[in-house]
Amino acid sequence: MTDLNTLKTDLIAQVEAAPDAAALEAIRISALGKSGQISELLKSLGKMSPDERREQGPLINGLRDAVAGRIAERKAEMEAAELDRRLAAERVDLSLPAPPRRRGSVHPTMQVMDEMVSIFAEMGFSVAEGPDIETDFNNFTALNFPPKHPAREMHDTFFMAADEAGDRKVLRTHTSPVQVRVMRQINEKVPAWVATGQEPPIRVVVPGRTYRCDSDATHTPMFHQMEGLVIDKAVHMGHLKWTLETFISRFFETEGVVSRFRPHHFPFTEPSAEMDVQCDRSGGDIKIGQGTDWLEVVGCGMVHPNVLRNCGLDPEVWQGFAFGFGVDRLGMLKYGMPDLRDMFAGDARWLGHYGFSPFAMPNPATGLS
Ligand code: PHE
Repeated sequence: MTDLNTLKTDLIAQVEAAPDAAALEAIRISALGKSGQISELLKSLGKMSPDERREQGPLINGLRDAVAGRIAERKAEMEAAELDRRLAAERVDLSLPAPPRRRGSVHPTMQVMDEMVSIFAEMGFSVAEGPDIETDFNNFTALNFPPKHPAREMHDTFFMAADEAGDRKVLRTHTSPVQVRVMRQINEKVPAWVATGQEPPIRVVVPGRTYRCDSDATHTPMFHQMEGLVIDKAVHMGHLKWTLETFISRFFETEGVVSRFRPHHFPFTEPSAEMDVQCDRSGGDIKIGQGTDWLEVVGCGMVHPNVLRNCGLDPEVWQGFAFGFGVDRLGMLKYGMPDLRDMFAGDARWLGHYGFSPFAMPNPATGLS
Protein backbone atom coordinates (compact mmCIF):
# COMPACT_ATOMS: atom_id res chain seq x y z
CA MET A 1 0.00 0.00 0.00
CA THR A 2 2.59 2.49 1.22
CA ASP A 3 4.96 1.38 -1.54
CA LEU A 4 2.30 2.02 -4.17
CA ASN A 5 1.53 5.45 -2.72
CA THR A 6 5.20 6.41 -2.58
CA LEU A 7 5.70 5.16 -6.14
CA LYS A 8 2.68 7.17 -7.28
CA THR A 9 3.87 10.38 -5.56
CA ASP A 10 7.36 9.88 -6.96
CA LEU A 11 6.19 9.20 -10.53
CA ILE A 12 3.68 12.06 -10.56
CA ALA A 13 6.40 14.41 -9.23
CA GLN A 14 8.71 13.27 -12.07
CA VAL A 15 5.92 13.85 -14.61
CA GLU A 16 5.29 17.36 -13.26
CA ALA A 17 9.00 18.16 -13.39
CA ALA A 18 9.60 16.82 -16.93
CA PRO A 19 11.04 19.77 -18.88
CA ASP A 20 10.09 18.58 -22.37
CA ALA A 21 8.40 15.86 -24.45
CA ALA A 22 11.55 13.72 -24.58
CA ALA A 23 11.90 13.67 -20.78
CA LEU A 24 8.19 12.86 -20.44
CA GLU A 25 8.56 9.96 -22.86
CA ALA A 26 11.51 8.62 -20.87
CA ILE A 27 9.39 8.66 -17.70
CA ARG A 28 6.54 6.90 -19.51
CA ILE A 29 8.87 4.15 -20.68
CA SER A 30 10.41 3.67 -17.22
CA ALA A 31 6.91 3.41 -15.66
CA LEU A 32 4.62 1.95 -18.28
CA GLY A 33 7.00 0.49 -20.86
CA LYS A 34 7.42 -3.24 -21.38
CA SER A 35 9.53 -3.66 -18.26
CA GLY A 36 8.52 -0.45 -16.55
CA GLN A 37 7.91 -0.27 -12.82
CA ILE A 38 4.09 -0.32 -13.09
CA SER A 39 4.16 -2.96 -15.84
CA GLU A 40 6.21 -5.23 -13.55
CA LEU A 41 3.62 -4.73 -10.78
CA LEU A 42 0.82 -5.65 -13.19
CA LYS A 43 2.72 -8.79 -14.18
CA SER A 44 3.06 -9.74 -10.48
CA LEU A 45 -0.74 -9.89 -10.18
CA GLY A 46 -0.68 -13.28 -11.99
CA LYS A 47 1.42 -14.84 -9.21
CA MET A 48 -0.84 -13.65 -6.36
CA SER A 49 -3.47 -15.56 -4.53
CA PRO A 50 -7.04 -14.67 -5.53
CA ASP A 51 -7.60 -12.72 -2.32
CA GLU A 52 -4.41 -10.78 -2.67
CA ARG A 53 -5.23 -10.11 -6.31
CA ARG A 54 -8.67 -8.84 -5.48
CA GLU A 55 -7.12 -6.35 -3.10
CA GLN A 56 -4.01 -5.35 -5.08
CA GLY A 57 -5.56 -5.40 -8.60
CA PRO A 58 -7.66 -2.24 -8.30
CA LEU A 59 -4.80 -0.43 -6.53
CA ILE A 60 -2.20 -1.25 -9.20
CA ASN A 61 -4.63 -0.56 -12.01
CA GLY A 62 -5.55 2.73 -10.34
CA LEU A 63 -1.87 3.64 -10.10
CA ARG A 64 -1.42 2.86 -13.80
CA ASP A 65 -4.45 4.96 -14.78
CA ALA A 66 -3.38 7.90 -12.62
CA VAL A 67 0.19 7.99 -13.96
CA ALA A 68 -0.83 7.34 -17.60
CA GLY A 69 -3.56 10.00 -17.31
CA ARG A 70 -1.20 12.61 -15.94
CA ILE A 71 1.41 11.83 -18.60
CA ALA A 72 -1.24 12.28 -21.32
CA GLU A 73 -2.33 15.60 -19.82
CA ARG A 74 1.25 16.90 -19.57
CA LYS A 75 1.86 15.81 -23.18
CA ALA A 76 -1.21 17.71 -24.38
CA GLU A 77 -0.14 20.79 -22.36
CA MET A 78 3.33 20.67 -23.88
CA GLU A 79 1.94 20.36 -27.42
CA ALA A 80 -0.43 23.27 -26.87
CA ALA A 81 2.42 25.40 -25.49
CA GLU A 82 4.60 24.51 -28.48
CA LEU A 83 1.80 25.43 -30.88
CA ASP A 84 1.31 28.78 -29.11
CA ARG A 85 5.04 29.45 -29.35
CA ARG A 86 5.09 28.68 -33.08
CA LEU A 87 2.01 30.77 -33.76
CA ALA A 88 3.62 33.72 -32.02
CA ALA A 89 6.99 33.25 -33.74
CA GLU A 90 5.70 32.55 -37.23
CA ARG A 91 3.05 35.24 -37.34
CA VAL A 92 2.84 36.99 -40.74
CA ASP A 93 2.90 40.74 -40.31
CA LEU A 94 0.61 41.90 -43.10
CA SER A 95 1.36 45.54 -42.35
CA LEU A 96 5.01 45.16 -43.44
CA PRO A 97 5.71 46.68 -46.86
CA ALA A 98 6.60 44.03 -49.48
CA PRO A 99 10.30 43.82 -50.36
CA PRO A 100 11.04 45.76 -53.57
CA ARG A 101 10.80 43.61 -56.68
CA ARG A 102 13.38 44.21 -59.40
CA ARG A 103 11.79 44.30 -62.81
CA GLY A 104 13.65 43.92 -66.08
CA SER A 105 13.52 46.66 -68.66
CA VAL A 106 13.83 46.96 -72.41
CA HIS A 107 17.38 47.79 -73.51
CA PRO A 108 17.58 51.21 -75.21
CA THR A 109 18.98 49.65 -78.38
CA MET A 110 16.01 47.28 -78.66
CA GLN A 111 13.61 50.14 -77.92
CA VAL A 112 15.22 52.25 -80.65
CA MET A 113 15.11 49.35 -83.12
CA ASP A 114 11.39 48.90 -82.42
CA GLU A 115 10.75 52.61 -82.88
CA MET A 116 12.71 52.62 -86.16
CA VAL A 117 11.00 49.51 -87.51
CA SER A 118 7.55 50.88 -86.69
CA ILE A 119 8.24 54.15 -88.51
CA PHE A 120 9.56 52.31 -91.57
CA ALA A 121 6.71 49.81 -91.38
CA GLU A 122 4.24 52.67 -91.75
CA MET A 123 6.11 53.68 -94.91
CA GLY A 124 5.61 50.19 -96.34
CA PHE A 125 8.93 48.55 -95.41
CA SER A 126 9.10 44.99 -94.12
CA VAL A 127 11.86 43.47 -91.99
CA ALA A 128 14.57 41.12 -93.29
CA GLU A 129 17.35 39.51 -91.30
CA GLY A 130 20.61 37.70 -91.95
CA PRO A 131 23.25 35.83 -89.95
CA ASP A 132 26.03 37.51 -87.96
CA ILE A 133 28.65 35.16 -89.48
CA GLU A 134 28.64 36.02 -93.15
CA THR A 135 30.44 34.89 -96.27
CA ASP A 136 33.17 37.09 -97.65
CA PHE A 137 31.12 37.13 -100.88
CA ASN A 138 28.01 38.65 -99.29
CA ASN A 139 29.86 41.01 -96.98
CA PHE A 140 32.31 42.29 -99.62
CA THR A 141 32.48 40.75 -103.11
CA ALA A 142 28.82 41.03 -104.12
CA LEU A 143 28.82 44.56 -102.70
CA ASN A 144 31.44 45.58 -105.26
CA PHE A 145 34.48 45.54 -102.96
CA PRO A 146 37.23 44.49 -105.43
CA PRO A 147 38.97 41.19 -104.49
CA LYS A 148 42.09 41.67 -102.34
CA HIS A 149 41.27 45.37 -102.22
CA PRO A 150 42.39 47.23 -99.04
CA ALA A 151 38.78 48.35 -98.63
CA ARG A 152 38.19 44.92 -97.06
CA GLU A 153 40.54 45.94 -94.28
CA MET A 154 38.87 49.35 -94.07
CA HIS A 155 36.17 47.96 -91.79
CA ASP A 156 38.64 46.43 -89.29
CA THR A 157 37.11 43.08 -90.06
CA PHE A 158 37.02 40.11 -87.67
CA PHE A 159 37.92 37.17 -89.94
CA MET A 160 37.01 33.57 -89.02
CA ALA A 161 39.50 30.72 -89.55
CA ALA A 162 39.68 29.60 -93.19
CA ASP A 163 37.76 26.45 -94.22
CA GLU A 164 39.27 23.56 -96.32
CA ALA A 165 38.72 25.57 -99.49
CA GLY A 166 40.63 28.50 -97.96
CA ASP A 167 37.51 30.69 -97.64
CA ARG A 168 37.36 32.87 -94.58
CA LYS A 169 33.95 33.82 -93.24
CA VAL A 170 33.66 37.14 -91.41
CA LEU A 171 31.67 38.61 -88.57
CA ARG A 172 29.62 40.90 -90.77
CA THR A 173 31.02 44.42 -90.70
CA HIS A 174 27.70 45.97 -91.72
CA THR A 175 24.09 44.92 -92.43
CA SER A 176 24.60 45.54 -96.17
CA PRO A 177 25.17 41.80 -96.94
CA VAL A 178 21.47 41.31 -96.23
CA GLN A 179 20.80 43.51 -99.29
CA VAL A 180 22.51 40.76 -101.26
CA ARG A 181 20.57 38.01 -99.51
CA VAL A 182 17.23 39.74 -100.16
CA MET A 183 17.95 40.49 -103.81
CA ARG A 184 19.46 37.09 -104.64
CA GLN A 185 16.60 35.25 -103.01
CA ILE A 186 14.40 36.47 -105.84
CA ASN A 187 16.37 34.22 -108.19
CA GLU A 188 17.46 31.45 -105.87
CA LYS A 189 14.45 31.17 -103.50
CA VAL A 190 16.70 29.64 -100.89
CA PRO A 191 17.51 31.21 -97.55
CA ALA A 192 14.29 30.54 -95.67
CA TRP A 193 15.19 32.83 -92.78
CA VAL A 194 14.91 35.92 -94.95
CA ALA A 195 11.55 37.40 -94.04
CA THR A 196 10.67 38.73 -97.46
CA GLY A 197 10.31 36.76 -100.64
CA GLN A 198 8.77 39.21 -102.99
CA GLU A 199 9.70 40.26 -106.52
CA PRO A 200 10.78 43.89 -106.85
CA PRO A 201 9.63 46.34 -105.75
CA ILE A 202 11.64 45.59 -102.64
CA ARG A 203 11.25 47.69 -99.51
CA VAL A 204 13.07 46.20 -96.53
CA VAL A 205 14.80 47.35 -93.41
CA VAL A 206 17.40 45.11 -91.78
CA PRO A 207 18.03 45.54 -88.07
CA GLY A 208 20.97 43.58 -86.70
CA ARG A 209 24.29 43.21 -84.94
CA THR A 210 27.49 44.21 -86.74
CA TYR A 211 31.16 43.86 -85.76
CA ARG A 212 34.36 45.82 -86.18
CA CYS A 213 37.64 45.61 -84.30
CA ASP A 214 37.39 49.02 -82.67
CA SER A 215 36.74 50.40 -79.17
CA ASP A 216 36.41 53.94 -77.80
CA ALA A 217 33.60 56.22 -76.52
CA THR A 218 31.79 56.05 -79.86
CA HIS A 219 32.92 52.59 -81.12
CA THR A 220 32.40 49.11 -79.69
CA PRO A 221 33.46 45.79 -81.29
CA MET A 222 29.76 44.88 -81.57
CA PHE A 223 27.17 47.47 -82.45
CA HIS A 224 23.84 47.64 -84.25
CA GLN A 225 22.87 48.87 -87.69
CA MET A 226 19.66 49.18 -89.59
CA GLU A 227 19.97 48.83 -93.33
CA GLY A 228 17.34 50.02 -95.75
CA LEU A 229 16.90 48.84 -99.32
CA VAL A 230 14.40 49.99 -101.92
CA ILE A 231 14.42 48.54 -105.45
CA ASP A 232 11.91 49.56 -108.10
CA LYS A 233 11.69 50.78 -111.69
CA ALA A 234 11.88 54.55 -111.30
CA VAL A 235 13.60 55.24 -107.99
CA HIS A 236 15.83 58.27 -107.66
CA MET A 237 17.75 60.31 -105.05
CA GLY A 238 14.63 62.38 -104.35
CA HIS A 239 12.87 59.31 -102.95
CA LEU A 240 15.91 58.57 -100.82
CA LYS A 241 16.00 62.11 -99.48
CA TRP A 242 12.27 62.16 -98.68
CA THR A 243 12.43 58.78 -96.97
CA LEU A 244 15.36 59.73 -94.74
CA GLU A 245 14.04 63.20 -93.88
CA THR A 246 10.60 61.85 -93.05
CA PHE A 247 12.13 59.15 -90.91
CA ILE A 248 14.39 61.58 -89.03
CA SER A 249 11.61 64.06 -88.24
CA ARG A 250 9.37 61.27 -86.93
CA PHE A 251 12.12 59.55 -84.99
CA PHE A 252 13.23 62.76 -83.27
CA GLU A 253 9.61 63.94 -83.00
CA THR A 254 10.37 67.33 -84.50
CA GLU A 255 9.06 69.02 -87.64
CA GLY A 256 11.27 70.84 -90.07
CA VAL A 257 14.52 68.91 -89.73
CA VAL A 258 17.09 70.55 -92.02
CA SER A 259 19.36 68.06 -93.73
CA ARG A 260 22.19 68.10 -96.22
CA PHE A 261 23.72 65.39 -98.36
CA ARG A 262 27.51 65.34 -98.37
CA PRO A 263 29.21 63.39 -101.19
CA HIS A 264 30.92 60.27 -99.87
CA HIS A 265 32.21 56.94 -101.11
CA PHE A 266 30.86 53.45 -100.56
CA PRO A 267 31.79 50.67 -103.02
CA PHE A 268 28.16 49.50 -103.20
CA THR A 269 26.41 52.80 -103.94
CA GLU A 270 26.87 55.37 -106.72
CA PRO A 271 26.43 58.22 -106.09
CA SER A 272 27.07 57.85 -102.35
CA ALA A 273 26.34 60.35 -99.64
CA GLU A 274 26.29 60.91 -95.94
CA MET A 275 23.26 62.71 -94.64
CA ASP A 276 23.80 65.32 -91.93
CA VAL A 277 21.04 66.97 -89.93
CA GLN A 278 21.18 70.44 -88.49
CA CYS A 279 21.51 70.55 -84.73
CA ASP A 280 22.45 72.70 -81.77
CA ARG A 281 25.38 71.62 -79.59
CA SER A 282 25.66 74.85 -77.61
CA GLY A 283 23.90 73.55 -74.49
CA GLY A 284 26.24 70.60 -73.98
CA ASP A 285 23.86 68.01 -75.39
CA ILE A 286 22.73 67.80 -78.99
CA LYS A 287 19.32 69.19 -80.03
CA ILE A 288 18.02 68.11 -83.43
CA GLY A 289 15.92 70.53 -85.49
CA GLN A 290 17.57 73.77 -84.33
CA GLY A 291 20.95 75.52 -84.31
CA THR A 292 23.71 75.80 -86.89
CA ASP A 293 25.83 72.68 -86.32
CA TRP A 294 25.71 69.52 -88.43
CA LEU A 295 25.51 65.95 -87.29
CA GLU A 296 26.17 62.93 -89.50
CA VAL A 297 23.31 60.44 -89.13
CA VAL A 298 23.32 57.96 -92.01
CA GLY A 299 25.34 56.65 -94.96
CA CYS A 300 23.37 56.16 -98.16
CA GLY A 301 23.29 56.18 -101.94
CA MET A 302 21.86 54.69 -105.11
CA VAL A 303 22.54 50.95 -105.37
CA HIS A 304 25.60 50.45 -107.62
CA PRO A 305 24.79 48.76 -110.97
CA ASN A 306 27.48 46.14 -110.23
CA VAL A 307 25.65 45.17 -107.02
CA LEU A 308 22.37 44.80 -108.93
CA ARG A 309 24.13 42.64 -111.53
CA ASN A 310 25.85 40.54 -108.81
CA CYS A 311 22.37 39.88 -107.42
CA GLY A 312 20.82 38.93 -110.75
CA LEU A 313 18.89 42.16 -111.37
CA ASP A 314 19.20 44.06 -114.66
CA PRO A 315 20.31 47.64 -113.88
CA GLU A 316 18.64 48.79 -117.10
CA VAL A 317 15.30 47.74 -115.55
CA TRP A 318 15.77 48.12 -111.79
CA GLN A 319 17.26 50.86 -109.68
CA GLY A 320 17.13 51.60 -106.03
CA PHE A 321 18.62 53.20 -102.98
CA ALA A 322 20.12 51.93 -99.77
CA PHE A 323 21.00 53.42 -96.44
CA GLY A 324 22.64 52.25 -93.23
CA PHE A 325 21.93 53.74 -89.79
CA GLY A 326 23.95 53.22 -86.63
CA VAL A 327 21.12 52.20 -84.27
CA ASP A 328 22.99 52.64 -80.97
CA ARG A 329 24.26 56.00 -82.18
CA LEU A 330 20.71 57.20 -82.92
CA GLY A 331 19.63 56.03 -79.46
CA MET A 332 22.50 57.95 -77.84
CA LEU A 333 21.38 61.08 -79.68
CA LYS A 334 17.70 60.69 -78.87
CA TYR A 335 18.01 59.65 -75.25
CA GLY A 336 21.21 61.49 -74.29
CA MET A 337 23.52 58.60 -73.49
CA PRO A 338 27.12 59.84 -73.55
CA ASP A 339 29.23 56.68 -73.94
CA LEU A 340 28.48 53.86 -76.38
CA ARG A 341 30.47 51.34 -74.31
CA ASP A 342 27.99 51.66 -71.41
CA MET A 343 25.28 50.24 -73.65
CA PHE A 344 26.95 46.82 -73.70
CA ALA A 345 28.61 46.78 -70.27
CA GLY A 346 25.60 45.05 -68.69
CA ASP A 347 25.54 47.29 -65.60
CA ALA A 348 22.10 46.83 -64.03
CA ARG A 349 22.16 50.39 -62.62
CA TRP A 350 22.68 51.83 -66.10
CA LEU A 351 19.92 49.62 -67.49
CA GLY A 352 17.63 50.63 -64.64
CA HIS A 353 18.21 54.27 -65.52
CA TYR A 354 18.09 54.15 -69.32
CA GLY A 355 15.94 51.03 -69.84
CA PHE A 356 12.34 51.26 -71.00
CA SER A 357 9.28 49.75 -69.38
CA PRO A 358 7.85 46.93 -71.47
CA PHE A 359 4.40 48.09 -70.32
CA ALA A 360 4.76 51.79 -71.24
CA MET A 361 1.89 53.71 -72.78
CA PRO A 362 1.97 53.83 -76.58
CA ASN A 363 4.24 56.54 -77.94
CA PRO A 364 1.99 58.95 -79.87
CA ALA A 365 4.74 59.59 -82.44
CA THR A 366 5.31 55.97 -83.30
CA GLY A 367 2.27 54.11 -82.00
CA LEU A 368 4.71 51.84 -80.17
CA SER A 369 4.39 51.08 -76.53
N1 PHE B 1 27.22 49.79 -94.94
C1 PHE B 1 27.62 51.18 -94.76
C2 PHE B 1 28.45 51.28 -93.48
O1 PHE B 1 28.41 50.39 -92.67
C3 PHE B 1 26.43 52.10 -94.65
C4 PHE B 1 25.65 52.17 -95.91
C5 PHE B 1 24.59 51.32 -96.13
C6 PHE B 1 25.99 53.09 -96.90
C7 PHE B 1 23.85 51.39 -97.31
C8 PHE B 1 25.27 53.16 -98.06
C9 PHE B 1 24.22 52.32 -98.26
O2 PHE B 1 29.14 52.24 -93.26
